[in-house]
Amino acid sequence: MAEGQLASERVSPLKNFVAGGVGGACLLLAGHPLDTIKVRLQTQPKASCSQYVLYTGTYDCIRKTVSREGVLGLYKGMGAPLAGVAPMMAISFFGFSLGKQLQQAENGKRLTHTQIFLSGCLAGVFTTVIVAPGERIKCLLQVQASSGQSRYAGPLDCATRLYKEQGIRSVYKGTVLTLIRDVPSNGLYFLTYEYLKNFLTPEGQRSKTPLTLPAILLAGGIAGILNWTIALPPDVLKSNFQTAADGKYRGLVDVLRMVLREEGPKGLYKGFNAVFLRAFPANAACFLGFEVALKGLNWLAPSL
Ligand SMILES: *[C@@H]1O[C@H](CO)[C@@H](O)[C@H](O)[C@H]1NC(C)=O
Repeated sequence: MAEGQLASERVSPLKNFVAGGVGGACLLLAGHPLDTIKVRLQTQPKASCSQYVLYTGTYDCIRKTVSREGVLGLYKGMGAPLAGVAPMMAISFFGFSLGKQLQQAENGKRLTHTQIFLSGCLAGVFTTVIVAPGERIKCLLQVQASSGQSRYAGPLDCATRLYKEQGIRSVYKGTVLTLIRDVPSNGLYFLTYEYLKNFLTPEGQRSKTPLTLPAILLAGGIAGILNWTIALPPDVLKSNFQTAADGKYRGLVDVLRMVLREEGPKGLYKGFNAVFLRAFPANAACFLGFEVALKGLNWLAPSL
């Protein structure tokens, strides 16, 4: 009995893939409204002092959006990110579970913290394959919108043109920075989640109810915040590198030097508030969706 309680469940990368996709959808459902608000506040027309401003702040913007457009107004434009985030989280959870499976010496033996961290790192390696080109294209489009000139008609046009003009290397420009950003942060992300979930779930309940709501939400939320805390500085470097004109930077160290010279250390934490406000609820929802889906899949197909 005691042994049975300690035994960890058999890991199924396939189920983790599907459940990860559900988690990704939940991440977006919880996170997208805050993103809509952020973008509306960022882009509302500047009023001169006597004029009427559309939104006076975050809360005002939420209230006006919901009263004019209903709750669905907060979910405008969710299609495109959904098509990216759900597959990304599916691949991420797949990589994580594959890492766990590869390191599991014998069934039922618990993984060490280092092994869990390394499994999370593997998730970061897996997602980079799609995240690196995705980020390169996204950042180029985001910057072009703010600078007013349209070089690319959209994501597909951007990808084809990069590929035709300079080959696959150009599409994958920034891959090393994406790895630096995502490998250790994913390791920490998954380790934090597993560690806190276990820590917060009372010993006796671990085998009986693998789903304890507060533990999952708190562990997921904190994991999300920690992920961003260590991922944001390399993220700032990556965005700068991926959107810079060719030849502007000789290498990564060069980007770091430039950011530090122009803005100091706080330049590495740009966009901090918007990101952190969103990270807790989004990742709490992500892990909840993941755990519920995994439980459902285990119930539907126990032997898979
Ligand atoms: C972790 O942080 C990186 C940003 O730097 C972000 O792209 C990624 O989506 C985050 N992961 C999760 C699950 O929030």
